[in-house]
Amino acid sequence: MLIAPSILAADFSALGEEIKKTKGADLLHIDIMDGCFVPNISIGPDVVAALRDKTDLIFDVHLMIIKPLRYIEKFVKAGADQITFHVECEDDTNAVIDEIHRFGIKAGLAIKPSTPVSVLAPFAEKLHTVIVMSVEPGFGGQSLIPETLTKIKEIKQQFPHILVEVDGGVNRDTIKLCHESGADILISGTGVFRAEDPQKEIEFLRSGK
Ligand code: DX5
Ligand code: ZN
Repeated sequence: MLIAPSILAADFSALGEEIKKTKGADLLHIDIMDGCFVPNISIGPDVVAALRDKTDLIFDVHLMIIKPLRYIEKFVKAGADQITFHVECEDDTNAVIDEIHRFGIKAGLAIKPSTPVSVLAPFAEKLHTVIVMSVEPGFGGQSLIPETLTKIKEIKQQFPHILVEVDGGVNRDTIKLCHESGADILISGTGVFRAEDPQKEIEFLRSGK
């Protein structure tokens, strides 16, 4: 089980320091919101670039933006190791995947809670990861919607090569469900950064007990 702390829940006034708390994690999840695809605005490529030399963790960039195509190059240059965008965005899905691959990094698709697994089929071969949203995208600190987790086994059965990430409401209260879900990567914002000892919490979430 891989753990990806989401910096959305970190103290934005001290991101460089906050990132040190994620030592021992596997990926750093970075949420990018444009105020259009979701009703919230987070950070842009310049902030991502400023964080690049603060950690060796894999930068797992999650684009919640309506037009990802024109920003792929910027996030690659900022240090993204993998970029996941939403199948529900307005750009052509194949074009965005190809643009991500043009820079030699891994591409992923994210699906909202109400989006079925069937939408992934035409793109599955090109995908490294899928983010199953277990909350409506836009904000940290929401409650995990248990029904969304059933999609994970469906994805693993149909596309065994794809790594599945769960995003939203992953914390000590839901960790058992998340472990049983068959996911490969657990993203946790509030669960990690608001814990008394984030590093210990990462180990706890990884073990599931
Ligand atoms: C929500 C984001 C999540 C968020 C998770 O739109 O995609 O990555 O940071 O936060 P928690 O773990 O607090 O639900
Ligand atoms: Zn996310």
